[in-house]
Amino acid sequence: MNLTNQTVLITGATSGIGLNLAIELHKLGNQVIICGRRQERLAELAAQHPGLATRVCDVSEAAQRESLAAWATATYPSLNVLVNNAGFMQLHDLTQALDSEKITAEITTDLIAPIHLGSLLAVHLAQQPTAAIINVTSGLAFTPLASMPVYCAAKAGLHSFCLSLRYQLRDTAVRVFEIVPPAVHTEFSQVGGYDISNDNAMNVNDFVQEVLRVLAQDQYEVGIGIAEGLRQQKDALFGALNP
Ligand SMILES: NC(=O)c1ccc[n+]([C@@H]2O[C@H](COP(=O)([O-])OP(=O)(O)OC[C@H]3O[C@@H](n4cnc5c(N)ncnc54)[C@H](OP(=O)(O)O)[C@@H]3O)[C@@H](O)[C@H]2O)c1
Repeated sequence: MNLTNQTVLITGATSGIGLNLAIELHKLGNQVIICGRRQERLAELAAQHPGLATRVCDVSEAAQRESLAAWATATYPSLNVLVNNAGFMQLHDLTQALDSEKITAEITTDLIAPIHLGSLLAVHLAQQPTAAIINVTSGLAFTPLASMPVYCAAKAGLHSFCLSLRYQLRDTAVRVFEIVPPAVHTEFSQVGGYDISNDNAMNVNDFVQEVLRVLAQDQYEVGIGIAEGLRQQKDALFGALNP
């Protein structure tokens, strides 16, 4: 995909991967719209990066997803790229009963929100000369970390959904990308006192440069760094099921 003169909406871009990607795409001459729940953080970022557009949105709320899609398409008719990046994960002890609200929140943000937001924008995106939906999954979608089972299941679900979305949109202008991160040093790395990062975790700037490289090469599903090894073990049968 072309990485200049695009109009890009990125969810979960107040920190980490989303923020770094937003800043790089902004520098490359794209109109970038970032969202997250932290209004003050969005205001700071808008002040630091003139031209960067912001919108408060909690993607776990269906009404806020609908409002975001309606606002974004009305305010930026040229919107042609959605990056579904917002996500979070929690530790769960599966030897105990789970709290339904806690698991629903995780699955809503990590799986339902990207599915729904993409669908809300699909018609608009398909009307653009070129367009993309970029979903951020995880190496843990392919090989789960058992202490984060709901997150891994949600990301595995999102990976599966990407295959169907890419297939159904194949005759439209919308290309569907799945970016599969390894452990990356961000705020995300610290979960409930548990540090998922290690010496092999990628620097977030290096990670984003690699993402830009694979997007520019139209690599539609790609594991970054060590996540590629996890990803390659799967999906050989998709082509047989969907000729
Ligand atoms: N870092 C890693 O090791 C790693 C590895 C594999 C995959 N990933 C994936 O990469 C993506 C980005 O993660 P990151 O490492 O950059 O984490 P991060 O630094 O914690 O950033 C997460 C972003 O998501 C936003 N967010 C969380 N819940 C939200 C909600 N309900 N509505 C709107 N925004 C929400 C946060 O903003 P607010 O708090 O302002 O809402 C924040 O901007 C996630 O999908 C994650 O699963 C990360």
